[in-house]
Amino acid sequence: MCGIVGIVNHGKISIKNDLLKSLKRLEYRGYDSVGYATLEGKVEKEIGEISKFIDQIQDSTTSCAISHTRWATHGGVTKTNSHPHWDCKKNIFTVHNGIIENYQELKTELINKGHVFITETDSEVISHFLEEELKSKNMMDAIKSFINRIEGTYAILVIEKGINKIYAIKKDSPLVLGIGRDRFYLASDIYAFSDSTNKAIFFEDGEFAVVDPDMYTFYNCDGKEIKKEIYDFTWVIPQEESVRDYPHYMLKEIHEQPIASQRLINSLDGEQHDKINKIAELVKKSNRVVFTAAGSSYYASLLGVYFLNRAGINAHTLIASEFQNFMLVDKNTLFIAISQSGETMDVVTATKWAKERGAKIVSLVNVPHSTIQRMSDISLEIHAGPEICVAATKTFTNQVVSLLYLSHLLGFSVNMKTIPSKIDYVIKENEEAIKRLADELYEKKDIYIIGRGLSYPPSREIALKLKEISYIHAEGMMGGELKHGTIALIEPGTPVIALIPGKDFDMYSNAKEVEARGAKVITIANMMDSDFKMDITINDGKFSILAVIIGQLLTYYIAKKKGLPIDKPRNLAKSVTVK
Ligand code: G6P
Repeated sequence: MCGIVGIVNHGKISIKNDLLKSLKRLEYRGYDSVGYATLEGKVEKEIGEISKFIDQIQDSTTSCAISHTRWATHGGVTKTNSHPHWDCKKNIFTVHNGIIENYQELKTELINKGHVFITETDSEVISHFLEEELKSKNMMDAIKSFINRIEGTYAILVIEKGINKIYAIKKDSPLVLGIGRDRFYLASDIYAFSDSTNKAIFFEDGEFAVVDPDMYTFYNCDGKEIKKEIYDFTWVIPQEESVRDYPHYMLKEIHEQPIASQRLINSLDGEQHDKINKIAELVKKSNRVVFTAAGSSYYASLLGVYFLNRAGINAHTLIASEFQNFMLVDKNTLFIAISQSGETMDVVTATKWAKERGAKIVSLVNVPHSTIQRMSDISLEIHAGPEICVAATKTFTNQVVSLLYLSHLLGFSVNMKTIPSKIDYVIKENEEAIKRLADELYEKKDIYIIGRGLSYPPSREIALKLKEISYIHAEGMMGGELKHGTIALIEPGTPVIALIPGKDFDMYSNAKEVEARGAKVITIANMMDSDFKMDITINDGKFSILAVIIGQLLTYYIAKKKGLPIDKPRNLAKSVTVK
């Protein structure tokens, strides 16, 4: 899982200001290491983030180059394992996003033929495989053999020393050609070049292309030339405050939630109104609704199930990576994929699977033109604006707002209009108290968050935030389940955050049960004793959003106190494009 960018140009491009500037926009796909190779055979790579790399290297120019930002899968985070990789003669340079599943077998075969491997990666096999094939074939035929022989997922860019061309190959990992004024881009997504062109061609699985400064040609897996449609995309990036006003993107994005939710509500009342009405009609016509998602998006989907069930709709959800193992779908199922990026591989795979079984596909995405959006019959955009911090904050909220809106159309009672002002209130009224609580909790090893019904999904989402950003082991769980095991872990002083919506006395009792065993109980409630102010007197779903926002701020201030890399936490990536 990684980001790739290649540029072929008529004149010269700058490595720093053109190639790596584009690559930087894909850093959300991984930031373990970075590297590039040019047609002159120059290669530089280093572990760490792209900005650091840009500062370290001398700028140079070329007319054709490929680059890569890595999220390590096979082989540790080392300079050697960083992409690009090359063949024995250092003539063929490749960058790869995906996983070559049969690399062990191919590597053994190639080693037996005399190839020398220097990395621990699966990706290195690509350059050597092509090198071997090129002994008896031209590059086109070598690529055809590659597609036939390789198992796994890949978006690959290949350059040959001295040749002003990029070969691009795709299966299951996203790849797009950008048509610029004087250059072509090949990239994991349109983010890479959206500042310089709005014309793009999306690769489908099994396709490859040969791109030189004058032209591009697409082929199917048999090497037959194919015509592709040029996609004219429009992408309005909302004006928002500059990150300069905030120490981190995470805090900026938390504070943007009133504006971002208002923008979404306006769009659902306006230009997206027909779309959401159509989705509501599909819900009514289907036998049942099945959601899938990963990470924070999954917790949003869990709330979707809660809201829809309250409206009398038969709804379920399942984590995308396990979808095919535990769920059935058919043509009477409405399948709803939720994904901020629209690129998460597990969600893409589950969506393909559901589509093949005849389910109608709806998606909720933040990134327009993403793979999942393009696979959907109807796709709603959550209009959160670009989210840079790896942790989802405003996109989670806007996913929930979309689901509340949909459920409201189907009979769930909620006052949508007040959502932005209630969020604003919760942030303004609680931020100082949250900072004080963070000072108390930052050295804790474990935190438990308990919820019930409406507050169960938020308990999971808050736990996820605490784990990924503040590196504290946290468990979000059903209040009712506590007594079936986990309560054994409660010791004097163990922090337990109890999320109590409305007058949920059962939840209140669960909080009391741990308090009786010495836990430090912190309550987030709107109608009972609460450590935070909420200003909601009815129990209409908004509690779930507001409780999570308190959890987001708590996570942020704990991580800040610990001096952690808040926007780019260790080992994570914003968009996970491997299974
Ligand atoms: C990664 C991110 C999470 C995100 C999840 C799903 O794990 O670190 O923050 O919630 O992917 O991403 P998606 O783009 O599908 O919502």
